[in-house]
Amino acid sequence: MRRILITGATSAIAQEAAKHFAAEGDAFFLVGRDPDKLAAVADDLRARGAADVATAAADLLDLTRCSRLIGEAVERLGGLDMLLVAQGTLPDQAECEVDPALTLREFSLNAMSPITLLIRAATHFEPQGSGCIAVIPSMAGVRGRRSNYVYGAAKAALSTFLEGLRSRMGDVGVSVVDIRPGFVDTPMTAHLAKKTLFASAATVGERVYRSMVAGDAVVYTPWFWRWIALVIQLVPRSIFAKLPI
Ligand SMILES: NC(=O)c1ccc[n+]([C@@H]2O[C@H](COP(=O)([O-])OP(=O)(O)OC[C@H]3O[C@@H](n4cnc5c(N)ncnc54)[C@H](OP(=O)(O)O)[C@@H]3O)[C@@H](O)[C@H]2O)c1
Repeated sequence: MRRILITGATSAIAQEAAKHFAAEGDAFFLVGRDPDKLAAVADDLRARGAADVATAAADLLDLTRCSRLIGEAVERLGGLDMLLVAQGTLPDQAECEVDPALTLREFSLNAMSPITLLIRAATHFEPQGSGCIAVIPSMAGVRGRRSNYVYGAAKAALSTFLEGLRSRMGDVGVSVVDIRPGFVDTPMTAHLAKKTLFASAATVGERVYRSMVAGDAVVYTPWFWRWIALVIQLVPRSIFAKLPI
């Protein structure tokens, strides 16, 4: 039985990943800001076979609260084997461009709250010498696009942090998984027109589960985003700046 902390546990992608762990009888500490939604997710995971499900309501913009969550999960579950960080918001880029407070708020949820958790997680997992730390940055972090560079910058910061953390944790046998989905059909993207490249939360959640079990490093999901990322990285800056994306 694995003991798993999930932050942003009401996320559509996280819920789909958690279903696979629940079917294998794992135990959960679920963190989200809405107690009713959390209770519904917890009930679903119990029905699917989870050994134990505890929940905690927390607004993850509160970084002090964030920094206590690893300790709370360890205490409640009697230890911790895996962390999945799934909270995130897709900011309105145009509004952020004229509102520094909003930009920093978005940056805080998408980068600083995960990084706060990662610092505490490293302190737990490093001496333990085993475990898995998984986070869901994004394809958006691969390059700064004019249409969403606030979100992209936060996700890029997260991926860079994860790369360094992976080097450190690799020495002691802790896996650090950076999951970079493309477009996924979830509440976060409900307002966007659904084009052909959209994947389902079930597809991406299953990949999150598999990558955590395997201890993968960097995962693009669905698979074709790896090649799209490569092409995007190769486009010269002068051309990239002119693209209407
Ligand atoms: N959907 C995509 O196309 C896509 C692509 C690449 C990466 N991602 C990343 O995948 C992760 C999961 O997103 P999703 O697509 O599954 O979207 P989602 O269903 O909208 O999930 C977002 C999660 O973040 C939580 N959250 C937002 N603000 C919070 C706050 N202040 N405190 C605590 N929790 C907060 C939400 O809680 P509530 O339930 O209370 O709102 C929800 O659990 C995110 O990190 C996202 O950036 C998504």
